[in-house]
Amino acid sequence: MNLNFEKIKMISQEYGDSFYILDSEKFIKNYNKLLNSFTNIYPKTSVGYSYKTNYIPKLCSIVNNLGGYAEVVSQMERELALNLGVNPSKIIFNGPYKQYNDIKDSLLSGSRIHVDSLSELDVIIQIIKKYKDQKFKIGVRCNFEISNLKISRFGISVENGDLTSFIKKVDKIDNLKISGIHCHFPNRDLISFQERVDKMLEISQKYFNNDIEFIDIGGGFFSNMSDELKKQFGSDVPSFKDYAETVASKINSAFSSLDEYQRPELIIEPGSAIVADTMFFVAEVISIKQINKYKIATISGSKFNITPQSESINLPFKIISKTNVSKNTNKYLIAGYTCIESDYLSNEYVGIIKEGDYIFFENVGSYSIVLKPPFIHTNSPVIELKQDNTIEILKIKEETKHIFKTYKL
Ligand SMILES: Cc1ncc(COP(=O)(O)O)c(C=O)c1O
Repeated sequence: MNLNFEKIKMISQEYGDSFYILDSEKFIKNYNKLLNSFTNIYPKTSVGYSYKTNYIPKLCSIVNNLGGYAEVVSQMERELALNLGVNPSKIIFNGPYKQYNDIKDSLLSGSRIHVDSLSELDVIIQIIKKYKDQKFKIGVRCNFEISNLKISRFGISVENGDLTSFIKKVDKIDNLKISGIHCHFPNRDLISFQERVDKMLEISQKYFNNDIEFIDIGGGFFSNMSDELKKQFGSDVPSFKDYAETVASKINSAFSSLDEYQRPELIIEPGSAIVADTMFFVAEVISIKQINKYKIATISGSKFNITPQSESINLPFKIISKTNVSKNTNKYLIAGYTCIESDYLSNEYVGIIKEGDYIFFENVGSYSIVLKPPFIHTNSPVIELKQDNTIEILKIKEETKHIFKTYKL
Protein backbone atom coordinates (compact mmCIF):
# COMPACT_ATOMS: atom_id res chain seq x y z
CA MET A 1 0.00 0.00 0.00
CA ASN A 2 1.52 3.29 -1.11
CA LEU A 3 0.37 6.33 0.79
CA ASN A 4 2.12 9.67 0.80
CA PHE A 5 2.49 12.09 3.69
CA GLU A 6 -0.27 14.42 2.49
CA LYS A 7 -2.85 11.64 2.21
CA ILE A 8 -2.01 10.27 5.66
CA LYS A 9 -2.11 13.75 7.18
CA MET A 10 -5.53 14.30 5.63
CA ILE A 11 -6.84 10.98 7.01
CA SER A 12 -5.30 11.71 10.39
CA GLN A 13 -6.95 15.14 10.61
CA GLU A 14 -10.32 13.52 9.96
CA TYR A 15 -10.06 10.28 11.94
CA GLY A 16 -7.41 10.72 14.63
CA ASP A 17 -3.68 10.53 15.16
CA SER A 18 -3.56 6.74 14.84
CA PHE A 19 -5.68 4.38 12.75
CA TYR A 20 -5.82 0.95 11.20
CA ILE A 21 -6.25 0.51 7.44
CA LEU A 22 -7.85 -2.69 6.17
CA ASP A 23 -7.36 -4.09 2.68
CA SER A 24 -10.34 -6.41 2.25
CA GLU A 25 -9.47 -7.18 -1.39
CA LYS A 26 -6.20 -8.67 -0.19
CA PHE A 27 -8.14 -10.73 2.37
CA ILE A 28 -10.29 -12.17 -0.45
CA LYS A 29 -7.15 -12.93 -2.49
CA ASN A 30 -5.51 -14.68 0.47
CA TYR A 31 -8.66 -16.69 1.18
CA ASN A 32 -8.90 -17.88 -2.43
CA LYS A 33 -5.17 -18.52 -2.75
CA LEU A 34 -5.08 -20.68 0.38
CA LEU A 35 -8.28 -22.54 -0.45
CA ASN A 36 -7.28 -23.12 -4.09
CA SER A 37 -3.90 -24.53 -3.04
CA PHE A 38 -5.83 -27.19 -1.14
CA THR A 39 -8.74 -27.79 -3.53
CA ASN A 40 -6.28 -28.28 -6.43
CA ILE A 41 -5.18 -31.41 -4.58
CA TYR A 42 -8.23 -32.34 -2.51
CA PRO A 43 -11.35 -30.67 -3.96
CA LYS A 44 -13.48 -31.39 -0.90
CA THR A 45 -11.66 -28.77 1.22
CA SER A 46 -13.40 -25.90 3.05
CA VAL A 47 -12.21 -22.92 5.06
CA GLY A 48 -13.42 -22.15 8.59
CA TYR A 49 -12.24 -18.61 9.36
CA SER A 50 -10.98 -18.17 12.91
CA TYR A 51 -13.05 -15.21 14.17
CA LYS A 52 -10.88 -14.70 17.24
CA THR A 53 -7.90 -13.76 15.07
CA ASN A 54 -9.66 -10.67 13.76
CA TYR A 55 -13.43 -10.36 13.90
CA ILE A 56 -13.94 -7.13 11.98
CA PRO A 57 -17.51 -7.80 10.77
CA LYS A 58 -16.66 -6.94 7.16
CA LEU A 59 -14.12 -9.79 7.10
CA CYS A 60 -16.56 -12.24 8.67
CA SER A 61 -19.22 -11.32 6.09
CA ILE A 62 -16.74 -11.82 3.27
CA VAL A 63 -16.01 -15.33 4.54
CA ASN A 64 -19.72 -16.06 4.66
CA ASN A 65 -20.22 -14.78 1.11
CA LEU A 66 -17.32 -16.91 -0.09
CA GLY A 67 -18.98 -19.99 1.40
CA GLY A 68 -16.62 -20.44 4.35
CA TYR A 69 -17.48 -21.52 7.86
CA ALA A 70 -17.38 -19.19 10.86
CA GLU A 71 -15.01 -20.79 13.38
CA VAL A 72 -16.10 -19.33 16.73
CA VAL A 73 -15.08 -19.99 20.32
CA SER A 74 -17.50 -17.94 22.41
CA GLN A 75 -21.01 -16.63 22.75
CA MET A 76 -19.75 -13.24 21.58
CA GLU A 77 -18.36 -14.61 18.32
CA ARG A 78 -21.33 -16.92 17.78
CA GLU A 79 -23.74 -14.00 18.20
CA LEU A 80 -21.69 -11.94 15.76
CA ALA A 81 -21.91 -14.70 13.17
CA LEU A 82 -25.67 -15.06 13.64
CA ASN A 83 -26.17 -11.28 13.52
CA LEU A 84 -24.27 -11.19 10.24
CA GLY A 85 -26.69 -13.74 8.83
CA VAL A 86 -24.41 -16.77 8.92
CA ASN A 87 -26.52 -19.92 8.67
CA PRO A 88 -26.09 -21.92 11.93
CA SER A 89 -25.01 -24.92 9.82
CA LYS A 90 -22.02 -22.83 8.69
CA ILE A 91 -20.81 -22.24 12.26
CA ILE A 92 -18.10 -24.39 13.81
CA PHE A 93 -18.19 -23.98 17.58
CA ASN A 94 -14.78 -24.70 19.12
CA GLY A 95 -13.10 -23.80 22.39
CA PRO A 96 -12.61 -25.11 25.93
CA TYR A 97 -15.47 -23.17 27.56
CA LYS A 98 -18.81 -23.20 25.87
CA GLN A 99 -21.75 -21.95 27.93
CA TYR A 100 -24.82 -24.14 28.38
CA ASN A 101 -27.23 -22.01 26.33
CA ASP A 102 -24.77 -21.73 23.47
CA ILE A 103 -24.26 -25.49 23.41
CA LYS A 104 -28.01 -26.02 23.42
CA ASP A 105 -28.69 -23.43 20.68
CA SER A 106 -25.87 -24.80 18.57
CA LEU A 107 -27.13 -28.37 18.85
CA LEU A 108 -30.72 -27.45 18.09
CA SER A 109 -29.87 -25.19 15.19
CA GLY A 110 -27.46 -27.60 13.53
CA SER A 111 -24.11 -25.88 14.11
CA ARG A 112 -21.01 -28.02 14.39
CA ILE A 113 -19.76 -28.42 17.92
CA HIS A 114 -16.24 -29.71 18.42
CA VAL A 115 -16.27 -31.16 21.90
CA ASP A 116 -13.25 -30.30 24.03
CA SER A 117 -13.73 -32.48 27.13
CA LEU A 118 -15.63 -35.43 28.57
CA SER A 119 -17.50 -33.00 30.84
CA GLU A 120 -18.72 -31.08 27.80
CA LEU A 121 -19.95 -34.36 26.34
CA ASP A 122 -21.96 -34.94 29.55
CA VAL A 123 -23.64 -31.55 29.11
CA ILE A 124 -24.49 -32.41 25.50
CA ILE A 125 -25.96 -35.76 26.55
CA GLN A 126 -28.08 -34.03 29.20
CA ILE A 127 -29.41 -31.56 26.65
CA ILE A 128 -30.28 -34.03 23.90
CA LYS A 129 -32.05 -36.42 26.30
CA LYS A 130 -35.03 -34.08 26.00
CA TYR A 131 -35.03 -34.32 22.20
CA LYS A 132 -35.23 -38.07 21.66
CA ASP A 133 -36.83 -37.73 18.20
CA GLN A 134 -34.02 -35.59 16.84
CA LYS A 135 -30.61 -36.84 15.70
CA PHE A 136 -27.49 -34.89 16.69
CA LYS A 137 -23.94 -34.89 15.39
CA ILE A 138 -20.79 -33.70 17.12
CA GLY A 139 -17.11 -33.39 16.28
CA VAL A 140 -14.37 -34.30 18.70
CA ARG A 141 -11.20 -32.29 19.23
CA CYS A 142 -8.36 -34.79 19.52
CA ASN A 143 -5.38 -34.21 21.75
CA PHE A 144 -2.09 -35.96 21.01
CA GLU A 145 1.60 -35.20 21.25
CA ILE A 146 3.49 -33.51 18.47
CA SER A 147 7.17 -32.52 18.31
CA ASN A 148 8.26 -29.14 19.64
CA LEU A 149 5.25 -28.63 21.86
CA LYS A 150 5.55 -29.60 25.50
CA ILE A 151 1.83 -30.06 26.00
CA SER A 152 -1.41 -28.99 24.41
CA ARG A 153 -4.25 -28.49 26.89
CA PHE A 154 -7.05 -28.71 24.33
CA GLY A 155 -9.20 -31.65 23.30
CA ILE A 156 -9.66 -35.24 24.37
CA SER A 157 -6.49 -37.23 24.93
CA VAL A 158 -5.99 -40.05 22.48
CA GLU A 159 -2.94 -41.36 24.28
CA ASN A 160 -4.49 -41.92 27.75
CA GLY A 161 -7.62 -43.67 26.48
CA ASP A 162 -10.04 -40.76 26.93
CA LEU A 163 -10.93 -40.81 23.25
CA THR A 164 -11.96 -44.46 23.58
CA SER A 165 -14.13 -43.60 26.61
CA PHE A 166 -15.61 -40.68 24.67
CA ILE A 167 -16.56 -42.88 21.72
CA LYS A 168 -18.04 -45.57 23.99
CA LYS A 169 -20.15 -42.97 25.76
CA VAL A 170 -21.47 -41.58 22.49
CA ASP A 171 -22.19 -45.08 21.15
CA LYS A 172 -24.59 -45.65 24.04
CA ILE A 173 -26.71 -42.64 23.04
CA ASP A 174 -29.15 -43.50 20.25
CA ASN A 175 -29.58 -40.02 18.81
CA LEU A 176 -25.92 -38.93 18.95
CA LYS A 177 -23.14 -39.55 16.44
CA ILE A 178 -19.54 -38.41 16.06
CA SER A 179 -19.38 -37.01 12.54
CA GLY A 180 -15.81 -35.76 12.45
CA ILE A 181 -12.48 -35.18 14.12
CA HIS A 182 -10.61 -31.97 14.80
CA CYS A 183 -7.21 -30.86 16.03
CA HIS A 184 -5.32 -27.59 16.23
CA PHE A 185 -1.78 -26.79 17.35
CA PRO A 186 0.04 -23.48 17.46
CA ASN A 187 3.12 -24.82 15.62
CA ARG A 188 3.48 -23.48 12.11
CA ASP A 189 6.24 -25.68 10.64
CA LEU A 190 5.64 -28.31 7.95
CA ILE A 191 6.87 -31.19 10.13
CA SER A 192 4.15 -30.46 12.66
CA PHE A 193 1.56 -30.52 9.86
CA GLN A 194 2.91 -33.85 8.64
CA GLU A 195 2.62 -35.22 12.16
CA ARG A 196 -0.88 -33.92 12.80
CA VAL A 197 -2.24 -35.22 9.50
CA ASP A 198 -0.64 -38.65 10.01
CA LYS A 199 -2.16 -38.86 13.46
CA MET A 200 -5.60 -37.68 12.30
CA LEU A 201 -5.57 -40.28 9.53
CA GLU A 202 -4.58 -42.95 12.03
CA ILE A 203 -7.46 -41.89 14.33
CA SER A 204 -9.91 -41.87 11.42
CA GLN A 205 -8.90 -45.41 10.46
CA LYS A 206 -8.46 -46.94 13.91
CA TYR A 207 -11.45 -45.47 15.74
CA PHE A 208 -13.93 -44.78 12.93
CA ASN A 209 -12.98 -47.20 10.16
CA ASN A 210 -12.73 -44.10 7.94
CA ASP A 211 -16.49 -43.57 8.21
CA ILE A 212 -16.41 -39.86 9.06
CA GLU A 213 -17.83 -36.75 7.45
CA PHE A 214 -14.96 -34.35 8.13
CA ILE A 215 -11.36 -34.03 9.22
CA ASP A 216 -10.61 -30.56 10.55
CA ILE A 217 -6.90 -29.94 10.95
CA GLY A 218 -7.24 -26.46 12.50
CA GLY A 219 -5.10 -23.44 11.69
CA GLY A 220 -1.55 -22.40 12.39
CA PHE A 221 -0.46 -21.60 8.82
CA PHE A 222 2.02 -18.77 8.32
CA SER A 223 0.81 -15.78 6.32
CA ASN A 224 2.49 -14.14 3.33
CA MET A 225 5.25 -11.90 4.62
CA SER A 226 8.36 -9.98 3.66
CA ASP A 227 11.83 -11.56 3.94
CA GLU A 228 12.55 -9.10 6.77
CA LEU A 229 9.73 -10.57 8.84
CA LYS A 230 10.49 -14.16 7.83
CA LYS A 231 13.99 -13.84 9.29
CA GLN A 232 12.54 -13.13 12.73
CA PHE A 233 10.78 -16.52 12.92
CA GLY A 234 14.07 -18.39 12.91
CA SER A 235 12.58 -21.22 10.84
CA ASP A 236 11.43 -21.81 7.29
CA VAL A 237 8.17 -20.08 6.45
CA PRO A 238 6.22 -22.49 4.23
CA SER A 239 3.99 -21.16 1.44
CA PHE A 240 0.27 -22.01 1.15
CA LYS A 241 1.27 -24.47 -1.60
CA ASP A 242 3.77 -26.18 0.72
CA TYR A 243 1.09 -26.64 3.40
CA ALA A 244 -1.40 -27.94 0.84
CA GLU A 245 1.13 -30.39 -0.60
CA THR A 246 1.81 -31.72 2.88
CA VAL A 247 -1.76 -31.89 4.19
CA ALA A 248 -4.07 -32.30 1.19
CA SER A 249 -1.85 -34.85 -0.58
CA LYS A 250 -1.88 -37.14 2.45
CA ILE A 251 -5.64 -36.82 2.84
CA ASN A 252 -6.12 -37.38 -0.88
CA SER A 253 -4.12 -40.59 -0.98
CA ALA A 254 -5.74 -41.91 2.21
CA PHE A 255 -9.22 -41.65 0.68
CA SER A 256 -8.46 -42.13 -3.02
CA SER A 257 -10.22 -45.51 -3.14
CA LEU A 258 -13.52 -43.96 -1.96
CA ASP A 259 -16.11 -42.30 -4.18
CA GLU A 260 -16.25 -38.50 -3.93
CA TYR A 261 -19.42 -38.53 -1.81
CA GLN A 262 -17.85 -40.93 0.73
CA ARG A 263 -14.68 -38.89 1.19
CA PRO A 264 -14.53 -36.68 4.27
CA GLU A 265 -14.58 -32.91 3.95
CA LEU A 266 -11.18 -31.47 4.83
CA ILE A 267 -11.54 -28.32 6.90
CA ILE A 268 -8.73 -25.83 7.47
CA GLU A 269 -9.12 -23.05 10.02
CA PRO A 270 -6.87 -20.18 8.99
CA GLY A 271 -6.72 -16.98 11.00
CA SER A 272 -3.30 -15.34 10.69
CA ALA A 273 -2.62 -16.94 7.29
CA ILE A 274 -5.29 -14.92 5.52
CA VAL A 275 -5.65 -11.82 7.70
CA ALA A 276 -2.18 -10.88 8.97
CA ASP A 277 -1.01 -8.97 5.90
CA THR A 278 -4.36 -7.28 5.23
CA MET A 279 -4.09 -4.64 7.96
CA PHE A 280 -1.79 -1.69 8.51
CA PHE A 281 -1.43 0.62 11.48
CA VAL A 282 -0.47 4.26 11.21
CA ALA A 283 0.67 6.43 14.15
CA GLU A 284 2.23 9.87 14.44
CA VAL A 285 5.60 10.70 15.98
CA ILE A 286 4.74 12.81 19.02
CA SER A 287 8.17 13.54 20.51
CA ILE A 288 11.84 12.78 20.04
CA LYS A 289 14.33 12.88 22.87
CA GLN A 290 17.87 11.73 23.52
CA ILE A 291 18.50 9.18 26.31
CA ASN A 292 22.05 7.79 26.49
CA LYS A 293 23.07 6.67 23.00
CA TYR A 294 19.49 6.40 21.74
CA LYS A 295 16.96 8.77 20.38
CA ILE A 296 13.50 7.82 21.63
CA ALA A 297 10.68 8.46 19.19
CA THR A 298 7.40 8.26 21.10
CA ILE A 299 4.39 7.70 18.88
CA SER A 300 0.61 7.88 19.17
CA GLY A 301 0.33 4.08 19.02
CA SER A 302 1.47 1.26 21.24
CA LYS A 303 2.82 -2.28 21.06
CA PHE A 304 -0.70 -3.18 22.27
CA ASN A 305 -2.10 -1.96 18.95
CA ILE A 306 -0.01 -4.23 16.78
CA THR A 307 1.54 -7.22 18.58
CA PRO A 308 0.07 -7.40 22.09
CA GLN A 309 0.93 -11.07 22.58
CA SER A 310 4.46 -11.14 21.18
CA GLU A 311 7.52 -9.76 22.92
CA SER A 312 9.97 -10.83 20.24
CA ILE A 313 8.46 -9.90 16.88
CA ASN A 314 9.11 -6.44 15.44
CA LEU A 315 6.68 -5.86 12.61
CA PRO A 316 8.02 -4.19 9.45
CA PHE A 317 7.34 -0.47 9.12
CA LYS A 318 8.08 2.56 6.98
CA ILE A 319 8.64 6.15 8.04
CA ILE A 320 6.43 8.53 6.09
CA SER A 321 8.01 11.98 6.29
CA LYS A 322 7.08 15.21 4.66
CA THR A 323 10.65 16.20 3.89
CA ASN A 324 14.07 14.85 4.65
CA VAL A 325 15.87 18.03 5.60
CA SER A 326 18.52 16.26 7.64
CA LYS A 327 20.99 13.76 6.26
CA ASN A 328 22.24 12.67 9.69
CA THR A 329 20.97 9.25 10.58
CA ASN A 330 20.54 8.20 14.21
CA LYS A 331 19.68 5.12 16.19
CA TYR A 332 16.08 5.25 17.36
CA LEU A 333 13.90 3.26 19.67
CA ILE A 334 10.27 3.60 18.60
CA ALA A 335 8.25 3.76 21.80
CA GLY A 336 4.53 3.43 22.51
CA TYR A 337 2.32 5.89 24.38
CA THR A 338 1.73 3.64 27.42
CA CYS A 339 3.55 3.95 30.74
CA ILE A 340 5.01 0.46 30.40
CA GLU A 341 8.81 0.51 30.12
CA SER A 342 8.88 -2.32 27.62
CA ASP A 343 6.35 -0.72 25.24
CA TYR A 344 8.57 -0.49 22.15
CA LEU A 345 7.28 -1.04 18.63
CA SER A 346 10.81 -1.22 17.26
CA ASN A 347 13.99 -1.89 19.21
CA GLU A 348 16.47 -0.35 16.87
CA TYR A 349 15.90 1.76 13.82
CA VAL A 350 18.74 3.52 12.07
CA GLY A 351 17.60 6.43 9.93
CA ILE A 352 15.91 9.78 10.26
CA ILE A 353 12.71 10.31 12.22
CA LYS A 354 11.17 13.69 12.93
CA GLU A 355 8.30 14.84 15.09
CA GLY A 356 5.14 14.93 12.94
CA ASP A 357 6.28 12.01 10.76
CA TYR A 358 4.01 8.99 10.49
CA ILE A 359 5.04 5.39 11.09
CA PHE A 360 3.29 2.89 8.88
CA PHE A 361 3.31 -0.67 10.30
CA GLU A 362 2.58 -3.69 8.12
CA ASN A 363 1.22 -7.17 8.86
CA VAL A 364 -0.81 -6.05 11.84
CA GLY A 365 -3.96 -8.06 11.04
CA SER A 366 -3.71 -11.00 13.41
CA TYR A 367 -4.33 -10.98 17.17
CA SER A 368 -4.01 -7.18 17.27
CA ILE A 369 -7.26 -5.27 17.39
CA VAL A 370 -9.01 -8.16 19.21
CA LEU A 371 -6.40 -8.12 21.99
CA LYS A 372 -6.00 -4.35 22.38
CA PRO A 373 -7.00 -3.44 25.94
CA PRO A 374 -8.57 -0.09 26.87
CA PHE A 375 -5.29 0.69 28.60
CA ILE A 376 -4.25 4.36 28.78
CA HIS A 377 -5.80 5.27 25.43
CA THR A 378 -8.95 4.00 23.73
CA ASN A 379 -8.57 2.03 20.53
CA SER A 380 -8.04 3.58 17.13
CA PRO A 381 -10.55 3.55 14.27
CA VAL A 382 -10.41 1.10 11.36
CA ILE A 383 -10.88 2.43 7.85
CA GLU A 384 -10.65 1.11 4.33
CA LEU A 385 -9.50 3.15 1.33
CA LYS A 386 -11.75 2.59 -1.64
CA GLN A 387 -10.67 2.63 -5.29
CA ASP A 388 -12.69 5.79 -5.94
CA ASN A 389 -10.63 7.58 -3.24
CA THR A 390 -13.41 7.53 -0.66
CA ILE A 391 -12.96 6.17 2.84
CA GLU A 392 -15.13 3.49 4.42
CA ILE A 393 -15.25 3.50 8.22
CA LEU A 394 -15.29 -0.03 9.66
CA LYS A 395 -14.84 0.87 13.34
CA ILE A 396 -15.13 4.32 14.83
CA LYS A 397 -12.51 5.63 17.21
CA GLU A 398 -13.38 4.46 20.72
CA GLU A 399 -14.42 7.22 23.09
CA THR A 400 -14.40 7.48 26.87
CA LYS A 401 -18.14 6.77 26.96
CA HIS A 402 -17.66 3.41 25.20
CA ILE A 403 -15.16 2.26 27.81
CA PHE A 404 -17.16 3.38 30.86
CA LYS A 405 -20.56 2.30 29.60
CA THR A 406 -20.53 -0.89 31.67
CA TYR A 407 -19.28 0.75 34.90
CA LYS A 408 -21.56 2.43 37.44
CA LEU A 409 -20.62 6.10 37.45
C1 LIG B 1 -9.06 -24.01 17.08
C2 LIG B 1 -8.31 -22.94 16.36
N1 LIG B 1 -8.44 -22.84 15.03
C3 LIG B 1 -7.80 -21.89 14.33
C4 LIG B 1 -6.97 -20.96 14.95
C5 LIG B 1 -6.29 -19.92 14.11
O1 LIG B 1 -4.93 -20.04 14.20
P1 LIG B 1 -3.94 -19.10 13.37
O2 LIG B 1 -4.35 -17.70 13.57
O3 LIG B 1 -2.63 -19.42 13.95
O4 LIG B 1 -4.06 -19.53 11.97
C6 LIG B 1 -6.80 -21.04 16.34
C7 LIG B 1 -5.92 -20.11 17.06
O5 LIG B 1 -5.63 -20.19 18.21
C8 LIG B 1 -7.49 -22.06 17.07
O6 LIG B 1 -7.38 -22.17 18.40
